[in-house]
Amino acid sequence: MNWMCRAAICAASLVVLTFSHVQAGTMQQSVNISHRGASGHAPEHTLAAYELGQIMKGDYIEIDLQMTKDGELIAMHDETIDRTTDGTGTIKEFTLEELKRFDAGSWFNEAYPDKAKPEYMGLEVPTLREVIDRFGADANFFIETKSPEVYPGLEEKLVEILYEYNLVGEERQSGKVIIQSFSAESLKKIRQLDDSIPLVQLLSYYAPAVITNVEVTKIKEYASGIGMHFTAINPVYVKRVLDSGLRIYPYTVNEKEDMEMLLDWGVTGMFTNYPDRLEEVISNRKSK
Ligand code: G3P
Ligand code: CA
Repeated sequence: MNWMCRAAICAASLVVLTFSHVQAGTMQQSVNISHRGASGHAPEHTLAAYELGQIMKGDYIEIDLQMTKDGELIAMHDETIDRTTDGTGTIKEFTLEELKRFDAGSWFNEAYPDKAKPEYMGLEVPTLREVIDRFGADANFFIETKSPEVYPGLEEKLVEILYEYNLVGEERQSGKVIIQSFSAESLKKIRQLDDSIPLVQLLSYYAPAVITNVEVTKIKEYASGIGMHFTAINPVYVKRVLDSGLRIYPYTVNEKEDMEMLLDWGVTGMFTNYPDRLEEVISNRKSK
């Protein structure tokens, strides 16, 4: 065997080992996803909320993506700034410079006086680049393409930024970034741009759900996992999904008893506004 073959086998083994480590990690221990950051404690989608999520041992920072008039990717859940800033209007009508003038923290202090902190006043809406600049080396990201039909070109910009920061690609541990969306079209577009990024199809049913083999097969053509409101599922549903080889990430799980229940069912991970609570639940289970 020449050195090139040895090097190739060595590299291939490394990739397999690295990926199976991630797989094993997610199979054995459910991942803790800070939903909009630790948004139960700090204003959602601000650097302060993401920071707290990391301190509280969230495994992933969840980011909802929107795009400004001048094409900057920013973190915000809604298409308008009305709920989470002191301004009004739709994001796509503002340039980044204009958007940066709004206060994305004071609304939280007013809505939740018991959790209010002076440092939340005047927080800015963060760009995706700012989030990666701040947390890229230490964090994992669960990024949602929100309203992709409103923002043509959002997927291309996202993948470009992820490559620019070396967060995805062959040399990067698979799973550092996971992309999620309710839009199958958006996920398939990302698949076409890059087939190495794990994708999660979000499903919007709120009644008790049943998933068919046909649905599973369709989703498996482009995604490696699914996410849905946790109240829509049951142990049979979870088992069927896991047996199919798909991963399952219910949202948004804020009460410890629900966390315990979903861990008993074997979910791959869950979104929570309280990563500290989930961390406590997981740690307690480990120590038993
Ligand atoms: O991304 C999982 C969950 O966040 C989906 O719901 O509305 O909070 O983005 P939403
Ligand atoms: Ca989301």
